[in-house]
Amino acid sequence: MGMLEGRVAIITGSGRGIGRAAALLMAREGAAVVINDLDEEPAQEVVRQIRDAGGKAVACAGSVTDPAIPEKLVRTAIENFGALHILVNNAGYTWDGVIHKMTDEQWQAMLDVHVTAAFRLIRAAAPYMRDAAREEMAAGKRVMRKIVNVMSVAGTMGNAGQANYAAAKAALGGLTKAVAREWGRFNVNCNAVAFGFIETRLTDEKEKGQTLMGGRVAIGIPKAQREAFLQTIPLGRAGTPEEAAYGILFLVSPWSDYVTGHILHVDGGLDM
Ligand SMILES: NC(=O)c1ccc[n+]([C@@H]2O[C@H](COP(=O)([O-])OP(=O)(O)OC[C@H]3O[C@@H](n4cnc5c(N)ncnc54)[C@H](O)[C@@H]3O)[C@@H](O)[C@H]2O)c1
Repeated sequence: MGMLEGRVAIITGSGRGIGRAAALLMAREGAAVVINDLDEEPAQEVVRQIRDAGGKAVACAGSVTDPAIPEKLVRTAIENFGALHILVNNAGYTWDGVIHKMTDEQWQAMLDVHVTAAFRLIRAAAPYMRDAAREEMAAGKRVMRKIVNVMSVAGTMGNAGQANYAAAKAALGGLTKAVAREWGRFNVNCNAVAFGFIETRLTDEKEKGQTLMGGRVAIGIPKAQREAFLQTIPLGRAGTPEEAAYGILFLVSPWSDYVTGHILHVDGGLDM
């Protein structure tokens, strides 16, 4: 029996990269997973993969910045699987620029996707995380629930060219600790995981020209900068999406039942 048997999870941005790896691992451990992504096709593909392996998953595509999405995600979990135990706020991207050239739109977009979306989803989950716990406690039961917010070392160390992203990810740390303090007595663990350099589309070579938001946002890191960055990692290499997802898996597992308000660095030693 998997360690997440009978648990129901929502993972945002799980059509690709770290979120996808986390979804596959969690499903393998028995969790039923709601797969969300901005892009429908990769979300459906992850659902297919999970089902083909005998797991349970359903897709709910849409941008986490859409105010209607949090309720929709929670409803999808409840209607399909009857409960909600795990929430992973992972969806995100970067929209880099130096401060003196950064637009208000660039700044706000990062706060919207990394912080406001996470706040709204946690709020939408309250009836099934906080209120459900009240009833369970009245019946003498303790059911642990888990929220994991995906941060970055940009939010703990800062990063030139990412004032918007760094500020948003740092704010997510504050949100994490506030939720941990407020919902701890309802048996909700709220933690964050701060990644360093993980090999995904987000950190691919910028020269490949990959974009988001209809071509307006260029993603990736310039080749020379990538190589210089790798030199600064004590473990001497970038992490894989699976290595990143194991950090999330720990924080949604019973092995972390007495861990809350923590920022777990999965960064090869970058920020120590
Ligand atoms: N890759 C890294 O080195 C690294 C480092 C630190 C933090 N992170 C964080 O990890 C998380 C996952 O990133 P990744 O590296 O797997 O990138 P990725 O691009 O491979 O995957 C991110 C997924 O999120 C989706 N997404 C983006 N905006 C969305 C939105 N508004 N609504 C719903 N889905 C959306 C994308 O479509 C994509 O499928 C992000 O929050 C990112 O900031 C990544």
